[in-house]
Amino acid sequence: MKIYKAKDYADMSRKAANILSAQVIMKPDCVLGLATGSTPIGVYNQLVEWYNKGDIDFAQVRTVNLDEYCGLSPDNVHSYAYFMRKYLFDRVNISLSNTNIPDGLAENGELECIRYDKVIQKLGGVDMQLLGLGHDGHIGFNEPEEAFEKSTHVAVLKPETRQANQRFFGEGEEVPTQAITMGIKSIMQARKILLIVSGEDKAAILARALEGPVTPRIPASILQLHNDVTVVADTAALSFIKS
Ligand code: GLP
Repeated sequence: MKIYKAKDYADMSRKAANILSAQVIMKPDCVLGLATGSTPIGVYNQLVEWYNKGDIDFAQVRTVNLDEYCGLSPDNVHSYAYFMRKYLFDRVNISLSNTNIPDGLAENGELECIRYDKVIQKLGGVDMQLLGLGHDGHIGFNEPEEAFEKSTHVAVLKPETRQANQRFFGEGEEVPTQAITMGIKSIMQARKILLIVSGEDKAAILARALEGPVTPRIPASILQLHNDVTVVADTAALSFIKS
């Protein structure tokens, strides 16, 4: 596992965007696994800036997103489909038909999960998976459990996770209780993983994830078992890391 220390959020975003753009340059038709949340916004802004300068080309890039809230349509401003268009897809030359996000409106969640795993398989797997980190150690929406959930599944969101994400929703607007998320196995099958973490509030969970025992109680701890993980985190987020 390589850990790159960034000065602050802006530096983390630039460093991570550099790694993603190197991936796109080396394999123009690569499959990027993408994440949502506040952490990757700076990365996407940086990629858009380089795209505008002509330094990165998304024409052949394919993407799969980690997760989507159940019950939200792609036009709902709180959906991750909307988020991705707003921060990346509508701002670069990616073909929307090359982008994939679980269907939050699927009538049958279980069937949608099976369909999504097939989509990833058909694409030949993920070349580089971008990940953020939840305060309870979740990745995607793989919440702390007694066992690792393997493939794409419908996750019941913990109250803490719903509360943490409430800031994206308006007053009186409820964060959905369920989401469809790629599972730990799907994430671990990515050829490379890029974990980005920023802020003091993530320092304790980052240290437990990277240096503590591997346990489904801290889903991100499984990343210790992947052989190509790059962590880009700022000084504040790395403040509890010993090594
Ligand atoms: C959500 C997303 C995760 C993300 C996490 C952390 O729950 N499903 O993919 O990593 O939030 O979000 P933030 O980056 O806003 O702290």
